[in-house]
Amino acid sequence: MEIPVIKKDVIIVGAGLAGCAAARELKKSGKDVLVLTKLHPLRSHSGAAQGGVNAALSSDDDIELHIFDTVKGSDYLADQDAVELMCSKAPETIRWIERMGAAFSRNEDGTIAQRPFGGQSKPRACFAKDRTGLTLLQTIYEQAFREGVEFWDEWYVADLLYKDGKAYGVVAYNLRDSKPAIFNAKAVMFATGGYARAFKINSNAHANTGDGLSIFARHGLPLEDMEFVQFHPSGLAGSGILISEAARGEGGKLYNSEGERFMEKYAPEKMELAPRDVVSRAIANEIREGRGVGPDKMAVYLDLTHLGEEKIMERLPELRDLAITFLGQDMVKEPIMITVTAHYSMGGIPVDIDGHVRKSADSFVEGLYAAGECACVSVHGANRLGANSLLEALFFGRHVGETISKEVDSLELISANEEEAKNMLNEMEFILKNNGNESTASLRQELQDSMFENAGVFRTHDSLTKQKEKLKELRARFKNIRIDDKSKTFNTDLQEAIELGHMLDYATFIVEGAIARKESRGAHYREDFPSRDDENFLKHTLAYMDEEGNVSIEYMDVKIDKFQPQERKY
Ligand code: FUM
Repeated sequence: MEIPVIKKDVIIVGAGLAGCAAARELKKSGKDVLVLTKLHPLRSHSGAAQGGVNAALSSDDDIELHIFDTVKGSDYLADQDAVELMCSKAPETIRWIERMGAAFSRNEDGTIAQRPFGGQSKPRACFAKDRTGLTLLQTIYEQAFREGVEFWDEWYVADLLYKDGKAYGVVAYNLRDSKPAIFNAKAVMFATGGYARAFKINSNAHANTGDGLSIFARHGLPLEDMEFVQFHPSGLAGSGILISEAARGEGGKLYNSEGERFMEKYAPEKMELAPRDVVSRAIANEIREGRGVGPDKMAVYLDLTHLGEEKIMERLPELRDLAITFLGQDMVKEPIMITVTAHYSMGGIPVDIDGHVRKSADSFVEGLYAAGECACVSVHGANRLGANSLLEALFFGRHVGETISKEVDSLELISANEEEAKNMLNEMEFILKNNGNESTASLRQELQDSMFENAGVFRTHDSLTKQKEKLKELRARFKNIRIDDKSKTFNTDLQEAIELGHMLDYATFIVEGAIARKESRGAHYREDFPSRDDENFLKHTLAYMDEEGNVSIEYMDVKIDKFQPQERKY
């Protein structure tokens, strides 16, 4: 079979906010850029973000406060140079996307409305009702398209072209007919999103299978801080579908089965607007101590009835609709049942503040960049503040696009040949022809159930080592996989099996990082080490996988400029 080799200046993988923002910058500066996505761009997960995007815009807010809130929220693990860059550019980022047409909700006087979010000292989240991500994604996609960016939708990128410390393209296949192609470029950027899909209850799209991370890891490249997975306090009971923090920002209150507003015990000052790690642990604790609600007692109540129908319809119409559709509960009339849901990946592909991908703590891969949720820059450290993720994706997407546009002309194009599709073709052939007795769906379910149980909100050495063994078992059983659809046309069985391979790989990093980190910090809570340990663990995890799938761990310094770690109270 002849495999086409397509040559470009820059290939971007992923068409969410970060990918589209970078592509637009590159095209505007005259670069030949192609975006590959396994979805349609408007189905990228950025579009599911509901509540807002942060910027210190109002006259009684301050950029320094935004920086401090972000660093404190991160439990002091964020790199402060990156936080400072992002927060100081946030107002300009909002004006930039607004000028392109993003219709933010307004105050009476015409200024952009801002709502309170957890862990913030001021109402700072700019929003478009409760459809902020979708509004931003539609805007940036339209504008990238208008500039003439070329998008190839429904192409699955399965491998990176990488040798001698240089990246020079990707290998992908067309989901429509399973035909492969090689995309050869001077620069490659990954913007492939997060990895919370490895957990049973999660708020993520089906597409969030962490492909980009595992593709890098299979080339021996490191992943950073993978143990830090954010559990959002409010997913709909059962499904985990996101009920935005905006609901608490607008005044929502949490109650247990005894009618107690239990946040009084956990964060007496900030209450429901404490950061997500604090509120999620509080909810999980109420449930495990038997004060949950609902048929299986696995939820708590979120009460918004006091807001009234008019305000709910003005500010939270989508959330009302979701709760009616998936739970049969109308938040105008009654409290709705919510529970913690795996939501966001603080860890990811290690990059510097300009998006260069690290080969180690102090070296970089030439021609390789990443931004958005798949990257770890690290602006969120151990716990992200709500509404900082849309900001990160927009700001760093654009910023990394600018970086690439400055650097790409001086990068060499290493020619690729069709031989380099070999890894991907072997993987596809193995999955299509293997005749074992394991199904993708049941292995994935076991992975998600066990990760939620053993590596979820609460973790211990015992639960994590149990999960390590479970992952070994699942990886061994994956070799015995069998799919039913052997066809070439939109073969979702094949795609899901490849994605499961990626999930098993990156889940190993989450668990190994969590075993090694013998402290509690942000979203990583070790019941056997309940305190933060700055002396031994104020550092980033950098983990590498060998060819047998074993993970080894190193650490990298955290950049601390202005704010020395303090006790974190809310
Ligand atoms: O709660 C939310 O609306 C989610 C926002 C975010 O994750 O930043």
